Amino acid sequence: MSFRGGPVLGIESSCDETSAAVVSEGRVTGHVILSQDAHAVFGGVVPEIAARQHLIHIDGVVAQTLDEAGIRPGDLAGVGVTAGPGLVGALLVGLNWAKGFGYALGLPVVGVHHMEAHLYANSLESPEATPPFVALLVSGGHTLLLHASEWGTYELLGSTRDDAVGEAFDKVARRLGLGFPGGPEIEKLARQGLAGTYRLPRPMLSTRESPGDAGYFDFSFSGLKTAASLLIAEVEQTGNGDLDTARAHIAAEFQAAVVDVLVTKTMRAVEHTGCRRVLLGGGVARNGPLREKLAAALEPTGSMFAPSPRLSTDNAAMVARLAEYRLSAGQSDGLDLNADPALSFPGLS
Ligand code: KG4
Ligand code: ZN
Repeated sequence: MSFRGGPVLGIESSCDETSAAVVSEGRVTGHVILSQDAHAVFGGVVPEIAARQHLIHIDGVVAQTLDEAGIRPGDLAGVGVTAGPGLVGALLVGLNWAKGFGYALGLPVVGVHHMEAHLYANSLESPEATPPFVALLVSGGHTLLLHASEWGTYELLGSTRDDAVGEAFDKVARRLGLGFPGGPEIEKLARQGLAGTYRLPRPMLSTRESPGDAGYFDFSFSGLKTAASLLIAEVEQTGNGDLDTARAHIAAEFQAAVVDVLVTKTMRAVEHTGCRRVLLGGGVARNGPLREKLAAALEPTGSMFAPSPRLSTDNAAMVARLAEYRLSAGQSDGLDLNADPALSFPGLS
């Protein structure tokens, strides 16, 4: 089954968003994102619930998406689906749905990497967001610093050695008694606080290292998360002063520490590669101070691209966009395409 051009249906179900989108020549014509709220009471995503919710909603989400695009299944030219990484049960629902749908309609199906799709979100809104570029991909499960010489060819410069940055946001938010997901909650609370009132570490920012050193581009957020937890406990125990104000100061300092680390490491990659175009992707790319500080650091000769908020967090438009690209290049998968919860980033040199 080869791709002859036309609308591509994308399916995303790697975590707790059930999403479908139709993309045609790089333009989104239909897009539905259903964020599962069944997890909120648990303070995190429950894998079994996620898979069951995907199963309940996927038919309706696709039907609504095709409606919005004003097309019928027979008008589609191909299907793209997230094959990994993610929660295996959740991935399997979308993947098997896409394979069955593609097979029934005689359409080529291509499995895509969730984090590479986050990168492609940029090209839906900014045609100039093209290689070569440095990419900072920051989500609930991953923290990756890459250099792309062209689409599909990447050099991995750094990644996290422990927690992903989004995970650190979520855990510190929980410790502060905030809701899930924690990133937006910390950003909101931080606006009422002042960074520097308390002091938290900026991990792995040794100035004595150079690009050849193992830790120069890598990240670590576990120690920062623990330091924040200890600080919260200390402030709670001491009990003098206004606890809510203290929590806001801690949120501000935690966010500032994360942003300092992310911006410094990204600028190291910019200096090292000589490439002054930077693409952000993943849920943490929604963070206002991160976007502002990185854009400012790149001034005046560099440029930063970040997807709009809806396309930063999990969505199927980015999946459809990457699938359209891969199908146009003549790539597709067979029925043996499987979900891989630990799928490695493709095209690494
Ligand atoms: O990409 P994404 O939707 O799902 C994964 O692939 O993991 O990212 C979700 C992560 C969560 O950890 C969430 O707390 C974080 O993105 N996030 C934010 C913000 N909005 C979402 N982190 C910091 N600031 C935000 N405004
Ligand atoms: Zn994601």
